[in-house]
Amino acid sequence: MRILITAGPTREYIDDVRFLSNASSGKMGYALAEAAVAAGHQVVLVSGPVMLPQPAGCEFIAVETSEEMYTACVECFPACDGVIAAAAVCDYRPRSRVGGKISKTGQPLTLELIETEDVLAELGRRKTRQWVVGFALESQDAHKKAVQKLERKHCDVIVLNFPSAIGSADNAVELIDKTGKTVARWEGRKTLLAQSLISWIETNISQG
Ligand code: CTP
Repeated sequence: MRILITAGPTREYIDDVRFLSNASSGKMGYALAEAAVAAGHQVVLVSGPVMLPQPAGCEFIAVETSEEMYTACVECFPACDGVIAAAAVCDYRPRSRVGGKISKTGQPLTLELIETEDVLAELGRRKTRQWVVGFALESQDAHKKAVQKLERKHCDVIVLNFPSAIGSADNAVELIDKTGKTVARWEGRKTLLAQSLISWIETNISQG
């Protein structure tokens, strides 16, 4: 299979030297890319800025902003068999990026934020033969919200995880299908979880 994987955070620029971002390490997405390559798949890894070495054997597209991630993914998706969206895409960005560097004025500064494009939802809308696997990071009403997210973003399955996953080498996840049923639970190193998810996809939702 040819698999598109998104990973890491995005950066949403306020001016040319300052940005909004989040604490995603990219470990889950990179572990998935490595597991997929090891299982014999072609991988296109679209990654925000992280401190990890580029995984061997995959096509690598480095991006910074949610807009760049959106453009790269929309372009690559038609040639892929499926997508796993592990990136922690920023939900909001400044309405405009100021050229240069904003100077202090001695007064409070108000930023106007607007929602970013939802990369996964757009791929879900565009899918033809492809399968779509999303992630849901939830703190309350986790299962219910994950199912709503799966529906809203047209996913086949969604990987529910929790804020403790951010930056950690470990994770505890539930895999939820379209009927709202939990079809798998995995806990432990992200590298092992990644292998489990790739092999679950091979068995349960890919065309082979
Ligand atoms: N996602 C995306 N583009 C965005 C926001 C999220 O592709 N602009 C993807 C993530 O990669 C993940 C899924 O959508 O696979 C869910 O991300 P999550 O942060 O849990 O949900 P949000 O849609 O951001 O909603 P909320 O923050 O309100 O829970």
